[in-house]
Amino acid sequence: MFSRSSLERGGVLALRLIAMGALVAAGPCDIYSSGGTPCIAAHSTTRALYNAYTGSLYQVKRGSDGAVTNIAPLSAGGVANAAAQDSFCAGTTCLITIIYDQSGRGNHLTQAPPGGFKGPEANGYDNLASATGAPVTLNGQRAYGVFVSPGTGYRNNAPSGTAKGDAAEGMYAVLDGTHYNGDCCFDYGNAETNNLDTGNGHMEAIYFGDSTAWGSGSGSGPWIMADLENGLFSGSNPKNNAGDPSISHRFITAVVKGGPNKWALRGANAASGSLSTYYSGARPSASGYNPMSKEGAIILGIGGDNSVSAQGTFYEGVMTSGYPSDATENAVQANIVAAKYATTSLTSGPALSVGSSISLRATTACCTTRYLAHSGATVNTQVVSSSSSSTTLKQQASWTVRAGLGNSACFSFESRDTPGSYIRHYDFGLVLNANDGSKQFREDATFCPQAGLNGQGSSSIRAWGYPTRYFRHYDNVSYVASNGGVHTFDAAGSFNDDASWVVSAGFA
Ligand SMILES: *[C@@H]1O[C@H](CO)[C@@H](O)[C@H](O)[C@H]1NC(C)=O
Repeated sequence: MFSRSSLERGGVLALRLIAMGALVAAGPCDIYSSGGTPCIAAHSTTRALYNAYTGSLYQVKRGSDGAVTNIAPLSAGGVANAAAQDSFCAGTTCLITIIYDQSGRGNHLTQAPPGGFKGPEANGYDNLASATGAPVTLNGQRAYGVFVSPGTGYRNNAPSGTAKGDAAEGMYAVLDGTHYNGDCCFDYGNAETNNLDTGNGHMEAIYFGDSTAWGSGSGSGPWIMADLENGLFSGSNPKNNAGDPSISHRFITAVVKGGPNKWALRGANAASGSLSTYYSGARPSASGYNPMSKEGAIILGIGGDNSVSAQGTFYEGVMTSGYPSDATENAVQANIVAAKYATTSLTSGPALSVGSSISLRATTACCTTRYLAHSGATVNTQVVSSSSSSTTLKQQASWTVRAGLGNSACFSFESRDTPGSYIRHYDFGLVLNANDGSKQFREDATFCPQAGLNGQGSSSIRAWGYPTRYFRHYDNVSYVASNGGVHTFDAAGSFNDDASWVVSAGFA
């Protein structure tokens, strides 16, 4: 028999599972089980996390009629059936309503309720994620992650089997290392059961972002840290751990584990290589964290008190019972690398070419002579004609296509008559502002065209950072609107037409 302390143990376990007769490689939760620290929650919209799992991965709800459907893996242990989602959601919008727990314990994640902070829905609940905001491929097969914009969150306040008090647990998540912010708090893991901040040590969750309000690591971030409530921790010192590096990988594996007066923070490139340990040792040297007072709810995308200001993208993650060995986690990392996460196109429909000038014509029956234009800083629609309009108006209705300022896989639209100024969304309106170079501006000025919701060879233009929201004209003013959302301009009536635009060569 191999030694329990062998660094190779995790890998040997994974191989042993194969040797034991399973012809497919072990999934992450099979590996945790073999290590004696089974998953008690397993969430992923991209793939099955047990080699035998064939059940539902997640549920989507479409905007056209409110119908829902469940998305399962293509085969046992396989990648999500994204084609089933694409066909169910064709010609409309879709939201992720449930992220199912694959562990068999029923620890599903659903729309997070209001807490210390309220969500943006009319009832104070958080927003649900777009089902199409985070496309990726796994071993070449298309799947969708969970794109969390500020205001989006999922929760389960009554799960079974999660760690409580000072009990030991482990967790990992695969995230987009390029999608983050410094606001509180993009988390996945253990939190309060009442949506309120109940004190130090009442949480133990993975955090990813570049907040410096509590702890930090080396460089300027973003960092993997642990949200232990009333603090994001990178190590023992509540303020800083120089051993916690800034992250720059597109796909990252983030690991947090904690037990009686010990915890660890680990991380890796989820597409290659192995886990590094950024911290392993005693609990933070601040009161309330030893012993811990974990409550056992599960959160995704928010803080324990429903702080909803953060952004990030989640692909998969689990929580375990017991403190997983490093070797077990190393074998899980090898499994994640073998899943081959990779980027794929964020756009579809009529192609745009960078550097060209375009005009965007409304397609709603009322307004087919109107084009997206600006009057000063206001972006609206105006009636424009190539034969009779002034040069000034033609220029106001023409936009130079640029590589997306916030993500070069999408686009930005620079004003033809005001170079250096771009269409951005601000407070849900579209405005024309000079590029101030900030991360916020660049992201708010980045849009991803897709095949138009109403067909007609049109394009619908999604806000990169808020993929439930599209360019929409409403009373001839333009917004980023979500189908059936809480604002007047989100109204579901004529949404598809109002959010579909015919792209042509620019007037000027
Ligand atoms: C919007 O434009 C349409 C078509 O040009 C026009 O009939 C309508 O009065 C305008 N509505 C507003 C609120 O300006």
